[in-house]
Amino acid sequence: MVSIKTEEEIELMNYAGSVCYNLLEYMENCIKPGVTTKELDTIAEKFIRSKGCTPSFLNYEGYPASICTSINDEVVHGIPSEKRKLKNGDIIKLDVGACYKGYHADTARTYKVGTVNKEISDLMKYTKEALYKGLSVIKDGVKLNDVCTAIESVAISHGYGVIRELTGHGIGTVVHEDPYIPNYSNTESELILKEGMTLAIEPMFSLKGRKVWLLEDDWTIVTRDGSVAAHYEHTIAVTKDGYKILTGE
Ligand code: MF3
Ligand code: CO
Ligand code: CO
Repeated sequence: MVSIKTEEEIELMNYAGSVCYNLLEYMENCIKPGVTTKELDTIAEKFIRSKGCTPSFLNYEGYPASICTSINDEVVHGIPSEKRKLKNGDIIKLDVGACYKGYHADTARTYKVGTVNKEISDLMKYTKEALYKGLSVIKDGVKLNDVCTAIESVAISHGYGVIRELTGHGIGTVVHEDPYIPNYSNTESELILKEGMTLAIEPMFSLKGRKVWLLEDDWTIVTRDGSVAAHYEHTIAVTKDGYKILTGE
């Protein structure tokens, strides 16, 4: 069942979302060669708690950290570690979630570590473009699959792989609610969007193949062919005429 949130509920999610946005902005200055992903996790946890929120992902289905830190061919759910050091030319996806008074927000961004080659830089640019293209069609009365199709169209025009095992999702009192939101056109996304639905839209594209593996840590998802992947995510509320980004400033 897809829940409809009240204005008050959306306000709480928006507060959690603004904490996440400010955290991702703050992280821009922390990402540089030599930093470990464990250090990033520690900074993030402190930041989230200092704003009166709790980290949504810590202990979620047993997840052992506050944020996800996924490097290069790791698509999502990379576990922060003191053994993983960033190096020049890497890209890293930070996926963060905060909970305020029982309401969650979820957002992700891909960052460059030092200088990154043009092919990867373009992948980042167009994955972000796909997020905004997906958002642009959202309003009360629109079919969910139109969002899926809009996101996929950007991947198709650049020849990128669309990861199919992972999707966007509804969000609210739990991180993952109905509906699932694939990043490709499909026959299941028949839902009609309604004002007050809160959704996490999150394209995940790879440079080449779309197939993924789960690593032995039971969390990290990597591309099978080793190609680099990018990920951008916003939590939004559907409105009468469009949408409101809850994980913006
Ligand atoms: N942030 C992820 C998403 O976008 C969920 C992470 S859950 C965790 O859906 F447990 F892996 F952290
Ligand atoms: Co996320
Ligand atoms: Co999400």
